[in-house]
Amino acid sequence: MRAAISSGCTFWDGGEFYGTPSSNSLTLLNDFFTSHPSEADKVIVNIKGALGPGMVVNASPEALRQSVERCVQMLDGKAKIDMFECARRDRNVPLESELATLQGLVEEGLIGGIALSEVNAETIRKAARLAKILAVEVEISLFETGPLGNGITDACREFNIPILAYCPIGRGMLSGQIKCFDDLPEKDFRRMLPRFQPANFENNMKLVKQLEVLAQKKGCTSAQLAIVWIVNLSRREDMPTIIPIPGATTAERVMENAKAGEVKLNEEEMAEIGEVLKTCEVAGERYHAAGMKSISHDRNSLESLGAHHFSPRIQICMWGRKPNTFILSI
Ligand SMILES: NC(=O)c1ccc[n+]([C@@H]2O[C@H](COP(=O)([O-])OP(=O)(O)OC[C@H]3O[C@@H](n4cnc5c(N)ncnc54)[C@H](OP(=O)(O)O)[C@@H]3O)[C@@H](O)[C@H]2O)c1
Repeated sequence: MRAAISSGCTFWDGGEFYGTPSSNSLTLLNDFFTSHPSEADKVIVNIKGALGPGMVVNASPEALRQSVERCVQMLDGKAKIDMFECARRDRNVPLESELATLQGLVEEGLIGGIALSEVNAETIRKAARLAKILAVEVEISLFETGPLGNGITDACREFNIPILAYCPIGRGMLSGQIKCFDDLPEKDFRRMLPRFQPANFENNMKLVKQLEVLAQKKGCTSAQLAIVWIVNLSRREDMPTIIPIPGATTAERVMENAKAGEVKLNEEEMAEIGEVLKTCEVAGERYHAAGMKSISHDRNSLESLGAHHFSPRIQICMWGRKPNTFILSI
């Protein structure tokens, strides 16, 4: 976290359910700002919440308020929640109600503003007409280009809403550091994901290896190439601001990822990456069947993912059009 601040990464993103009730993004923030109180004003904090027992989203007015109140309580005044997201859309609660609850919490000063997570283009447009939406968090990477073609980037551009591109390093695989399924630790969440299953893994390594060659040519790491590809997308006229939010657990990786902003890709190099994407089709969905059913775009629970799989994480992200302004997520 100190490395992130010293790299200029001062927009941080976390989740109430990343970890346990006693050790999660919020408690980590509390610990950090207790030791470094003077840094609190330098950082903007975005938090995901509203997941009830079994990781099922509950955006009823009561549950949403309780989630926000728990987060505020865990921060204990050490930092403020600048933006809050329901981790998923709750199909049992009208969007109008969810946004009205969040707006009320903004007016009470418990949160600074509203963002959205895993929503589709239609929801983005509807939400943007109902409330001020500060950001939309969806998966975008060289493994997952869906939002570029399914209307999500168009909707965000239309309403000038920045996208937080999560898993920009393909949950680590695009870094080239994981060579096979067995490299994943025994209880690692990725062992359940289709893209990491041995046959798919082998197929997806073709893309990873081709990207490795391009990264070597550029003199950067594969992780940096994956990140800077998103930064470059963000610079395109037909795109909204897209902010990659890679996760990492060491200061070295945080700094390496932050330096991706220094790598410059020209149009030819972007086209070359585009060609690689066309020839190497990614095998396997983003989540397993139950997870796909549960995740959205605009579906309603994370039940099959299991809270215990999430641990407090550090992510470092950068605003696409302002490469010197970075974001850290925890
Ligand atoms: N909104 C949503 O619905 C949603 C859903 C899922 C995830 N997310 C967000 O996305 C985050 C998860 O993304 P992620 O962190 O799994 O995906 P990621 O950023 O694509 O990949 C992170 C992985 O890459 C590794 N890594 C990071 N920098 C590296 C480098 N320079 N070289 C080699 N390896 C590197 C990390 O290793 P180490 O950890 O070992 O350092 C970690 O295993 C969550 O924390 C969450 O905030 C959001």
